[in-house]
Amino acid sequence: MEGKPIAINRHKEVPAIQTAGLNKIYPNGTHAVKDITLNVNRTDFVVIIGSSGAGKSSLLRCMNRLVRPTSGAMSLFGDDITQVTGGRLRQVRRKVGMIFQQFHLVRRLTVLENVLVGRLRFNRSPLRLSMSLMRSFTKAEKVVAFESLKQVGIADLAFQRADTLSGGQQQRVAIARALAQEPQVFLADEPIASLDPHSAETVMQTLQDIHETRGIPVLVNLHHIDFARRYGKRIVGMRKGALVLDTIPPNLDDDAIADVYGARIEEAYGKFDACA
Ligand SMILES: Nc1ncnc2c1ncn2[C@@H]1O[C@H](COP(=O)(O)OP(=O)(O)O)[C@@H](O)[C@H]1O
Ligand SMILES: [Mg+2]
Repeated sequence: MEGKPIAINRHKEVPAIQTAGLNKIYPNGTHAVKDITLNVNRTDFVVIIGSSGAGKSSLLRCMNRLVRPTSGAMSLFGDDITQVTGGRLRQVRRKVGMIFQQFHLVRRLTVLENVLVGRLRFNRSPLRLSMSLMRSFTKAEKVVAFESLKQVGIADLAFQRADTLSGGQQQRVAIARALAQEPQVFLADEPIASLDPHSAETVMQTLQDIHETRGIPVLVNLHHIDFARRYGKRIVGMRKGALVLDTIPPNLDDDAIADVYGARIEEAYGKFDACA
């Protein structure tokens, strides 16, 4: 009799992502992720800060298992995913949507086709897709793709070729493509590093909107302290592979920033690297 409610409560409290003593050592000996223990909850919007080479990308890549951890453990909603392979690995990648600094769109395809590629569930190479692409999706899949485009605010561009879009718009297509997977966790690795300040703001607002409306946790690697402060509900700092900070924006003072960036503190406040 008493077992049931306890079980329900436990289920609710299972973190979206949990790492315990996680390490990634690349074959060349680089120890990129050092003994990281971190719980990410469903309500978290985490910004990960740290200098170049601190291990931010490696940590995110472990989380959707683009990279296989060397040791330690990692779970996704309570399921151990540390060493999964094959079909279970594909499942993990479906559940964990990810975008990158480079948008990785198929340039000759339309916006909608690029988003539908997110539904391919990693079974086919987009490069092998032909003009019959649109016919290979169900109506329901197209509705999901349109909804994703609507959420990122570019449904009106659905039938334009991807390579006619601005950088900020292309990043939003990449976000919509990841959303079309209907992920349970959203990861973004330096999503605004190639964008002008205005596009960067739009992309961050889009990620915030996804977090709020879909109720899924978001983890974003960022270089810019001001964006981290404004958008993060939680700030995690990495230095030389280790987790050295886990706090909330009001506590991100100069001492905390110095702990993360050390002598490279100018990186934290560095000029916005606008390329657009
Ligand atoms: N595939 C790889 N093979 C070997 N070393 C790598 C690889 N990817 C990243 N590294 C190294 O791991 C360290 C952490 O890199 P990374 O995770 O990209 O950090 P960040 O994203 O914070 O810049 C760096 O020293 C980097 O050179
Ligand atoms: Mg990186």
